[in-house]
Amino acid sequence: MIYIKSPAQIEKIRLSARLASQTLDYAEENLRPGMTTGELDKLINAFIVSHGAIPATLGYKGFPASSCVSVNEEVVHGIPGPRVIKDGDLVKVDVTTILDGFFGDTCRTFAVGNISAEARTLMETCREAMLLGIQNARAGSKLGDVGHAIQTHAEARGFNVVRDFVGHGVGVEFHELPNVPHYGKPDTGFKLKKNMTITVEPMINQGAYDVRILPDGWTVLTRDGTLSAQFEHTILITDDGAEILSVSS
Ligand code: MF3
Ligand code: CO
Ligand code: CO
Repeated sequence: MIYIKSPAQIEKIRLSARLASQTLDYAEENLRPGMTTGELDKLINAFIVSHGAIPATLGYKGFPASSCVSVNEEVVHGIPGPRVIKDGDLVKVDVTTILDGFFGDTCRTFAVGNISAEARTLMETCREAMLLGIQNARAGSKLGDVGHAIQTHAEARGFNVVRDFVGHGVGVEFHELPNVPHYGKPDTGFKLKKNMTITVEPMINQGAYDVRILPDGWTVLTRDGTLSAQFEHTILITDDGAEILSVSS
């Protein structure tokens, strides 16, 4: 479904997205080398539940955890578990909250300790690319404009945008239409409308954009084993731009 949200719905999505962002702040404060991704997920679960919300991923199509934690060559949908976080790792934490029935979805890449210069550039390029995509989202712009801005920035740095996973409408459901590709051509694709809420969540690989999925059925890896970064915001489409809803205050 594609939904145009009412002002009352937008307020609830805003509160949920804010809590999701605060959850990532809490995860960052508690992220330490030596801990496992499963331990981080337990903290995330407790934070979300103690704020009166539900972690949307827990039980979603059988996903067993309250967050996705994807390390280094893991692109997305990493299942938190026994993997130990080490100094130098790039750790992507993706949290989706359900607060009062409404969804907020956000992801950040965290650098643990000292990461390589190339890893730092990858991470910064991904964040910049997401923000450039968001700057191209407004009522009347097209998703090809959003994707093109992201793709152009990533490729200018010699990186590549994952094709197999895309952003999405969000708020009333976890994954709504439209799909939001992070690549594309200007003035093509779906035309955005006022009061839509969508995610922009580019996954950018150091190497080729191809991915593979582990036998666990979830964890997505770069096919060539190179690093990947991701950032995600939930945004509200307005007449003159997009408002980022997944902010902490
Ligand atoms: N939060 C992810 C997204 O941005 C979806 C995770 S679904 C899960 O759309 F099942 F893998 F947790
Ligand atoms: Co999402
Ligand atoms: Co997400």
